[in-house]
Amino acid sequence: QSSFPIYSQDEVTKHKSLNEGVWVTYKGGVYDITTFISMHPGGDKILLAAGGALEPFWSLYAVHGQDHVLEILSEYKVGEL
Ligand code: HEM
Repeated sequence: QSSFPIYSQDEVTKHKSLNEGVWVTYKGGVYDITTFISMHPGGDKILLAAGGALEPFWSLYAVHGQDHVLEILSEYKVGEL
């Protein structure tokens, strides 16, 4: 059972700037990745997904299909859709 709060897509979409915080979704999870952005090996490209889903970008950049990437993402989980 999950103890994460449920967020609407509208709420996620509001978080797409460094000021408001940068949230993304992945497989029904909501992640606040604001503090990860400066550590991202792929640089500012990560901001293309701000406020939306990672899936379309991660299917283009297959380097993300590795366990260690999902482990990083999991550290930033704040809720569920
Ligand atoms: C590389 C994490 C979102 C583009 C990487 C790597 C990690 C990572 C750990 C290095 C993987 C490795 O070499 O083993 C993440 C996380 C994301 C995210 C946690 C979301 C929270 C994105 C998005 C894009 C992107 C949305 C593109 C729009 C890239 C690119 C690289 C990369 C191009 C390759 C960089 C290089 O090796 O030169 N990412 N990423 N990433 N990422 Fe992301």
